Amino acid sequence: MSSHYVPHTKTPTLVFPTTAQATRHVALMIESLIRQNNSANRPTVLGLATGSTPVGLYRELIRLHKEAGLDFSRVITFNLDEYYPMEPTDDHSYNLWMWETLFNHINIKKENVHIPCGTTPAIDVEEYCARYEQLIRRAGGIDLQILGIGRTGHIGFNEPGSTRHSRTRMVTLDPVTRRDAASSFFGEENVPQQAVTMGVGTILEARKIVLMAFGEHKGKVVRKAVEEDMTESVTASFLQKHSDATVILDMSAARELTPIKKPWSVGSVNWTPSLIRRAVIGLSLAMGKGLLKLSDDDFREHELFELLREYGPAHKLGRRVFDEMMGTICTSPAGNEPKTALVFSPHPDDDVISMGGTIIRMVEQGHKVHIAYMTSGNIAVFDHDAWRFVDFVCGFNDLFGIDKEHSEQVKQRVKTFLSSKKPGQPDTEDLLNIKKLIRETEARAGAVAAGVPAEQLEFMDLRFYRTGTIAKAPIHPQDIEDLISLFERLQPDQIYVAGEMSDPHGTHRMCANAIFDAVKKVRAKGQMFEVWLYRGAWEEWEPHEVERVVPLSTGDMDHKKIAIFRHQSQKDKAMFPGGTDKREFWQRAEDRNRGTAKVYDTLGLPEFFALEGFVQWRGE
Ligand code: F6R
Repeated sequence: MSSHYVPHTKTPTLVFPTTAQATRHVALMIESLIRQNNSANRPTVLGLATGSTPVGLYRELIRLHKEAGLDFSRVITFNLDEYYPMEPTDDHSYNLWMWETLFNHINIKKENVHIPCGTTPAIDVEEYCARYEQLIRRAGGIDLQILGIGRTGHIGFNEPGSTRHSRTRMVTLDPVTRRDAASSFFGEENVPQQAVTMGVGTILEARKIVLMAFGEHKGKVVRKAVEEDMTESVTASFLQKHSDATVILDMSAARELTPIKKPWSVGSVNWTPSLIRRAVIGLSLAMGKGLLKLSDDDFREHELFELLREYGPAHKLGRRVFDEMMGTICTSPAGNEPKTALVFSPHPDDDVISMGGTIIRMVEQGHKVHIAYMTSGNIAVFDHDAWRFVDFVCGFNDLFGIDKEHSEQVKQRVKTFLSSKKPGQPDTEDLLNIKKLIRETEARAGAVAAGVPAEQLEFMDLRFYRTGTIAKAPIHPQDIEDLISLFERLQPDQIYVAGEMSDPHGTHRMCANAIFDAVKKVRAKGQMFEVWLYRGAWEEWEPHEVERVVPLSTGDMDHKKIAIFRHQSQKDKAMFPGGTDKREFWQRAEDRNRGTAKVYDTLGLPEFFALEGFVQWRGE
């Protein structure tokens, strides 16, 4: 599948199958612009964004500079925004981020880089902003502006309510934006209330604009921006008025767009089996009417005439999807013969949160279950928890006369660091290791509670995660090699992967991609096993996507919750709860599994207490 423009959008919207392809496309666009201008001896003026979205783009630009000689010496940049107040050298400043992520690695001239200043005295900010605009004008205006989109629909930090004509100014951040930034600041209370941002009007003056959005969590706001009418409550919608703005998406971010979600409502479609399933399930759920109760009129009233004509009548379509969905119900997920299942858990608790019931079932049915924890999850442990363990170990050692002196030294080092630690400051090696150990012991306790013996657990501690901060390194070739060795050593019949593409920090996505790479390599050598995807703590599969559900009884759910509770450092309050969801992980797991059961019930399928859902990965 290649890229395509989505029809019926109000801003041209180009969708790529993967984030990497989308990113590469934008990088090539920038490359050709710079090369063209360089050969005409003209500067190139770029408007740049920060955040998780452009990270891949900046990596690609660095690669083009290093490997293809892309020359940035005539490039002038203007960044969209900066928190206020914010020292340019602060770990959280967009200034530092831009230098570390891009500028330090290319031959851009320091004097050509412009990033709004977060330390201008409040009284001078207005004048400073006017000067920033003047600098843009003096540079000849922006040739190409890169944008991301926030969950509030903001571009730059133009939160809902910003007018189309707004200029560079100081703004107050929306609570949703502050909550989204909370994890990088290690707590919402540490996120600045204000920022300096280019205005919507400033952005719209760029000659060309590219807005990039990747991941499911962007789906809903992207749909509002490109399908609904222009409105101040979604400032990205103002791009609709620009003559050369393009929205670039990966498939996950495009999934809410009407021509992708309900293509039949915008024209004639090729009714593939999966589209039929999606349409019929959608209809049944929208009407709250079981699959076998759907009537011809129900199809007609929901723009499904064509489907009815080609594959109807209603009772035939209902029966077809009913039978398919009955086929998803699976009481023996690993089969009837003893098998080896390998569960990959990106963080040390995703296994039990997302598929604890299935693990319990497989163990009870006599299968050998291994769990591989891919990252240490050490950045998600609160300092006070780490300190309590240090205190415990010193007390323990004292009690039993074990090496008191050495443990007191460590305690002192930790104490000294913690007493002066600033919010979000990266931990020392000591502390990172202590936090890693806490999560490892919790994972062991959780897995054992689910019935998996400690010797069947693997702590992979993949390299890409070992940054000690939210930002992750790229997947290391050795990470893939480690996965390949694991497959060769354990010879699984089935593997389970967190196939979630909306994880706010990308760790799940990176883990999944690393596994897929490794699977392709071992498959090429002839090693075969089934690959099942489960969802992480953030979302559930869409009902039509589910290919297998494993029923849980009330007892299974209680058992699963006990395993989740063992992850004490994530209990009561998690460092990274993911978005605005205030529920604890066990509550989300229970709500979600019971929600899936409710969907089956509504479809007129057997009534269950709770279901865990899976999708099979076939190597596409
Ligand atoms: C960043 C900026 C913001 C981000 C937006 C999306 O300079 O102006 O508008 O582009 O908040 O952020 P990510 O990419 O982190 O989802």
